[in-house]
Amino acid sequence: MYFLGIDVGTGGTRALIIDESGRVAASATEEHRPFDSPRIGWAEQRPEDWWRACGVAVRRALETGNLTGEQIGCVGFSGQMHGAVMLGADNTVVRPALIWCDVRTEEQCRELSSRIGSERLIRFTCNPALPNFTLTKFMWVRENEPENWGRVRSVMLPKDYVRFRMTGERAIDVADASGTLLLDVARRRWSEEILNETAIDTKLLPRLYESQDICGTVTADGAAATGLKAGTPVVAGAGDQAAGAIGMGIVAPGTVSATIGTSGVVFAATDRPALDPKGRLHTFCHAVINRWHVMGVTQAAGLSLRWLRDQFGAGPDDGRDPYDRMTAEASKVPAGSDGLLWAPYLMGERTPHLDPYARGALIGLTASHTRGHVIRAILEGVAFSLRDTFTLFEELGVPVNRVRLGGGGARSALWRQIQADVYGREVEIVEAEEGAAYGAAILAGVGAGRWNSVDAACGEIVRVAQTVNPDRAASEHLNSRYKAYRCMYSAIRSCR
Ligand code: XUL
Repeated sequence: MYFLGIDVGTGGTRALIIDESGRVAASATEEHRPFDSPRIGWAEQRPEDWWRACGVAVRRALETGNLTGEQIGCVGFSGQMHGAVMLGADNTVVRPALIWCDVRTEEQCRELSSRIGSERLIRFTCNPALPNFTLTKFMWVRENEPENWGRVRSVMLPKDYVRFRMTGERAIDVADASGTLLLDVARRRWSEEILNETAIDTKLLPRLYESQDICGTVTADGAAATGLKAGTPVVAGAGDQAAGAIGMGIVAPGTVSATIGTSGVVFAATDRPALDPKGRLHTFCHAVINRWHVMGVTQAAGLSLRWLRDQFGAGPDDGRDPYDRMTAEASKVPAGSDGLLWAPYLMGERTPHLDPYARGALIGLTASHTRGHVIRAILEGVAFSLRDTFTLFEELGVPVNRVRLGGGGARSALWRQIQADVYGREVEIVEAEEGAAYGAAILAGVGAGRWNSVDAACGEIVRVAQTVNPDRAASEHLNSRYKAYRCMYSAIRSCR
């Protein structure tokens, strides 16, 4: 029997199939249309495009693995978090989804904090009002597009829309629901207080499950679109961060991950909801029963590098992958980028500034700096930004015994070393560094009963493949540059 994990990301949908020993049998990715940004701070995608990509990716993964739908015992989902998908009476999409990095809802956040009170909000949901969170996006549509909101009959998150198309079930897991600001994170149920105070009808919401619970089966239409067998069970799954953490074995307190994808996240599992009274970290349910997690988020981590590539090019084409060319150029530059600093606030910032209006900056340029310097400064700036979360973990007493790297930041040798140097500690890379789709496939295996629990699955299959030690001299130098990095935000802010 095999298990399929489907990650509905921002750039694309990935389907990944594992066997009963947790070995990856096949995977395939189909890209999405890039998100639209009709105004600064807006980010929208078409849910139908995710469903199209899911069909293509699943079929291709089955094909590459020489497998048939009959051999898939269970399906798990993961996906980009916080997005607002709105469906009408006929289950068609009412308007494009406002996705996780859309930060147009500052006014709705202020309204929420003043109506409910910032402290009460944190008490009910464990989190403050942030423009990324889904509730604020619903409020924006209700206030700015009343005719659209009037047509809404159900709401859901991105991966849950894809699941809905596959199974006909409106379902969500507690981990992804944590990022809506509608969940009582401590009690793992919808918050009646928030629903009442914001006049959101409970009937609009999907049904809540724990991540490993089976919440539906593939319908005939779902089977026709994907090549899966009708009747195949589907588990609830998790938001991409919690699912990715499971794939890296971040399930118990002490082991922490630093993942650089489009966004960047430092993630720690906890056995109770660990609150940051200032709300700079997110406190969410983990995709493990009775466990939670805290995480800090950099909005534009990998996105910083992609922005540079897309706007200025990756340098002369020598047949290599553009990112390999860019990091090769950066590796010729010494640690500290000869004084150049990058503030990665291209989409505002979450941790630690909670400022949707934060803006990016490249500071310290001289005529001697090269493209390589700019690229290296970006890699370092993103790592500095993730270090801000480690600094908060220290402040809040969240234990960090081991650090595992994930995402694109773990695949580049240079970015791995920069992270070890900037965090000033040994970092680990796991054998199957396969991201959130892998975690979703593990959850499917647990749901199907192959493993008794997520802990048991991770204990059996997640292995450390490599460790990277910090270089002492580089680390000391970068430590002093981190101090300079920390001064940038207030200077940028005063330039507004
Ligand atoms: C997490 C977050 C991102 C998105 C994008 O809070 O916003 O990780 O899930 O993938």
